[in-house]
Amino acid sequence: MEMESKKKKTIFSGVAPSGNIHIGNYLGAIKQWVKIQESGEFRTIFCVVDEHAITVPQDPEKLRAKIMEVAALYLAVGIDPEKSLIFIQSHVSEHAELGWILNTITPLGELQRMTQFKDKSQKQKSILAGLFNYPTLMAADILLYQTNLVPVGEDQLQHIELTRTLAKKFNAQFGETFVIPEPMINKTGARIMGLDNPENKMSKSAESPNNYIALLDSPETIRKKIKVAVTDSGSEIKYDREKKPAVSNLLTIYSLFAEKPIEEIEKEYEGKGYAEFKKDLAEVIIEGLSPLQAKYKEFENNPDAVMAILKKGAEKAKETASRTMSEVREKIGFV
Ligand code: AMP
Ligand code: TRP
Repeated sequence: MEMESKKKKTIFSGVAPSGNIHIGNYLGAIKQWVKIQESGEFRTIFCVVDEHAITVPQDPEKLRAKIMEVAALYLAVGIDPEKSLIFIQSHVSEHAELGWILNTITPLGELQRMTQFKDKSQKQKSILAGLFNYPTLMAADILLYQTNLVPVGEDQLQHIELTRTLAKKFNAQFGETFVIPEPMINKTGARIMGLDNPENKMSKSAESPNNYIALLDSPETIRKKIKVAVTDSGSEIKYDREKKPAVSNLLTIYSLFAEKPIEEIEKEYEGKGYAEFKKDLAEVIIEGLSPLQAKYKEFENNPDAVMAILKKGAEKAKETASRTMSEVREKIGFV
């Protein structure tokens, strides 16, 4: 058993407990995690990255609730503590420690290029150093566990590229220490666009809640949001990213929830209008989310059980993380 698990490749991913987790997060990343876990082929680690959440100001009470919400959502979608490690980033202090050390080998220019930093900093009155250093902490998350593959949405590619650069740089400077990780991106759903603006990705920090469908939105809210979702000119239900970006996005969402190819859906709606398509789409989403919403309620009502799972997860995570850190400290010359 032990030998077998040593050969398995390691998967690591996380979501920050900020804003509302939406169907973009789900279709782009989290749904994939469950599939990977169920394949049994990998050592799977899923983290609630609370230290990333505080790179923009957070209200402590709300943050506490959000952390538990995201953990319960992981469990509700099917992350199984018997099969995967699930824990909270700040419970394993090695993340912050390695993040700091990686900062000391990260050129400023690399961080200045990061598009997520550019986007997020534009929305802040005061730009904090933590937001700027966000990618080095993410690199630490990944490298601590000798991760091979990181299942994320397309927007995280640049951060993973930086993680690879830093791992290679550290290895070259101090000797082989880190596995060089690779991104794992879905073919469809890696970039779900905003319902109110198909030019931008669906986002937790969007100003209007009509931008996204949260995993915990009620059926009524989902129907309303889909009803007001932007569509394109014309009336055909046709996938065409260039000419029909809004309808293409809705078709992608439909296809992923219904687990039906897009062409099949296009055929079904030949000669039918946007209104009918949207009405059905709302029901498909409601149906897709209802099992996880029901499960979420169970976990929401049982925070002690969730906390016990998270604590156990952190203990196990710490075993690997502390091994990596001992090696790192030694290699860089700490005594
Ligand atoms: P975040 O919302 O930035 O914490 O992202 C959590 C995970 O969801 C990451 O793997 C992102 O790449 C993914 N993700 C976020 N927004 C989208 C989106 N609009 N479409 C697809 N994946 C997304
Ligand atoms: N930066 C990621 C996001 O915004 C969240 C994250 C933090 C992450 N650390 C990670 C994702 C490590 C994968 C691996 O979505």
